[in-house]
Amino acid sequence: MSEAINSSSLARPVLWSIPKHSVTATEIESKAKVLFERLIAISSEHADVRFASSLAAEDMVVTDAIVQSAAKISLFTLATGRLHQETIVMTEEVENHYKISIERIEPAPQDVESFIKQYGLNGFYDSEEAKKSCCGARKIKPLHQALEGADAWLSGQRREQAVTRSDLPLRELDDARQITKYNPLFDWSESDVWAYIEHYKVPIHPLHMQGYPSIGCEPCTRAVKAGEDIRAGRWWWLQQDSKECGLHVK
Ligand code: ADX
Ligand code: SF4
Repeated sequence: MSEAINSSSLARPVLWSIPKHSVTATEIESKAKVLFERLIAISSEHADVRFASSLAAEDMVVTDAIVQSAAKISLFTLATGRLHQETIVMTEEVENHYKISIERIEPAPQDVESFIKQYGLNGFYDSEEAKKSCCGARKIKPLHQALEGADAWLSGQRREQAVTRSDLPLRELDDARQITKYNPLFDWSESDVWAYIEHYKVPIHPLHMQGYPSIGCEPCTRAVKAGEDIRAGRWWWLQQDSKECGLHVK
């Protein structure tokens, strides 16, 4: 006899949600002050500093801090051609909200075409080599282009985000381009990020309200369950320690 389907077996999993935090207003204001000082110091030391934003929570904190601190840092985003529609809309909303411009860097059509010809549009699911090739065409090469002529650049990475980021410094040498790279949120916790967003009323990506702690390309990112690793939804078919797309290799 077949097993009866009861309502609990049909229950939807509880998804990740924006974490509650106990960071006080005074604590986040002093953390923010340090962040503003970092950004001002970076922009005073280098003539042309650029911030790579994916529009996810950490990057919104850095964006807000760049505006609040008036640090001379320009913004760009890698418009891979496979982003969520929400990310595309959000980019324009953030520009309007802060009255800033965010440069969209697109992949070269011939690189995308040659990836598709070799592996198929979604070939990245089939092998690590194909995933590397897709990220290479849609992210890494465009990143290189985005940083041409820059003296330094910034990411929104944090140490706590992943095992691969546990020794992330504030300042490092980007070997690929021989320029300085900064990670101004390297020592921030997830709670700090959400406390800042709440305190300074920072606009956030709508997918954070739908179980996405981390946001990348649409076919390679999914919502995660409550209690799962915050990067579990990125390239979920791969091992934890190979979930980097190569944007941040030393
Ligand atoms: S990834 O390497 O796995 O894609 P993740 O999404 O954690 O990176 O983001 C880490 C940092 O990489 C972000 O804070 C941002 O600086 C940069 N980054 C990631 N995706 C993009 C993007 N599409 N455009 C610009 N910068 C990005
Ligand atoms: Fe391609 Fe996925 Fe990498 Fe985006 S994240 S560039 S779709 S493999």
